[in-house]
Amino acid sequence: MTMGLGLAACASPKPALTNLPTPAPVAKPVFTAEQAKALATSECLACHGPVSTPYYPTLRGMSAEEIALALRNFKSGTKTGRVMPQIVKTMSEEQIAKVAAYLGGQSG
Ligand code: HEC
Repeated sequence: MTMGLGLAACASPKPALTNLPTPAPVAKPVFTAEQAKALATSECLACHGPVSTPYYPTLRGMSAEEIALALRNFKSGTKTGRVMPQIVKTMSEEQIAKVAAYLGGQSG
């Protein structure tokens, strides 16, 4: 049995956490238009086709402003839904704005 050895290793003193270099400020992640397009085509348009179904309304014909407003309202809870509140929960304001800008006014 090497149990004793394992325990001894665990009990070894931890390296001191002082004098570590100050981490560089983390740049705010940028959500690019490319990423917005990828998210819109892989996620949003998987459910939102060109024609509304009984379950999924189409986004066709909605402007970027209307889509962004709907997403913000799902996020704040002013607009209710079975699906969207969960989806927008993880989206940042930047993501909402850019995905809406991509989807708004496009024909698909
Ligand atoms: C899993 C399927 C699904 C995905 C993925 C999805 N949606 Fe939805 N969406 C729905 C459903 C269902 C509704 C109707 C409201 C509800 O039940 O949540 C809806 C409603 C909406 C509405 C309101 C439409 C209206 O007529 O008021 C908008 C805007 C919208 N979604 C945008 C998006 C965007 C943008 C994405 C991608 C970030 C997205 N949706 C991803 C299923 C989905």
